[in-house]
Amino acid sequence: MYEQAIALYPSARTMDIQAMKKYLNPQKNEKILGIGEGNGFFCPPIIEAIGEKGYYLVTDPSSEQLANLAKRVTCPNLETLTKGAENFTPTTSFDKAWSFGAFHHCPDQTQAMKNIYNALTKGGKMVICDVFQGSKLAKHFDGPVARYCTTGHEAKFLSDEFAESLCYLAGFDESKVKIVNLPQKWKFDSENDLGDFVYKLHAMTLIPGEEQEKIKEVIKGCKEILGVKKLGNHYELNWPMKALIAEK
Ligand SMILES: C[S@@+](CC[C@H](N)C(=O)[O-])C[C@H]1O[C@@H](n2cnc3c(N)ncnc32)[C@H](O)[C@@H]1O
Repeated sequence: MYEQAIALYPSARTMDIQAMKKYLNPQKNEKILGIGEGNGFFCPPIIEAIGEKGYYLVTDPSSEQLANLAKRVTCPNLETLTKGAENFTPTTSFDKAWSFGAFHHCPDQTQAMKNIYNALTKGGKMVICDVFQGSKLAKHFDGPVARYCTTGHEAKFLSDEFAESLCYLAGFDESKVKIVNLPQKWKFDSENDLGDFVYKLHAMTLIPGEEQEKIKEVIKGCKEILGVKKLGNHYELNWPMKALIAEK
């Protein structure tokens, strides 16, 4: 259902691509490590930016998500590895590491951060964008998503303090660690599209009722918890995340 959501509403997450370009800023010939990059939403723009002499390794523990990535993009300098961030042992060095909306799934975040640090070359940059504790997005996940997602949603959302401690424990230069707000908005042509996207993205099939009733319930939750705005002829859903940025 994650793949269906991304395929049906390809423009919804335009701001996420903008955040990737701003903070990861992939450049020609760079070697980039993707962590929890799932079905490869960020693959096409990253591959385009690094060019044919760059290298992009996408790691994710879900073979289903990676199978969808393989349908979205194939390229000789793109490889995938079916591993969680906590189990990954790098065999090459990367200029940059990138993750979006995945780190909260890592059961051992201390080990995951060490693995990312070890994978980077000296001066290498890490950008982890995720849901943080205390945010409206954490409420959305711990409330409706945890109740109604067909797989459940147990998550370890970072606090600023724990994120900084993880960087310190892994060995990152503390003077080059920063956390920035990402005021993401996801954009849709109609309220129903917004509800359908979130319903599918989180596979919220356990909401009682017929599919249209489930979508209505999702829209209600999004309005109450995250905030939805009608601007001109489109709808914006607040999706407030943070980026943890560090340099080795
Ligand atoms: C919400 S999806 C995000 C996918 C992609 N980054 C995006 O923005 O579209 C979360 C991803 O985290 C992955 N994941 C789950 N456990 C993980 C772990 N231990 N380490 C790394 N990724 C994990 C899931 O398989 C899934 O692909």
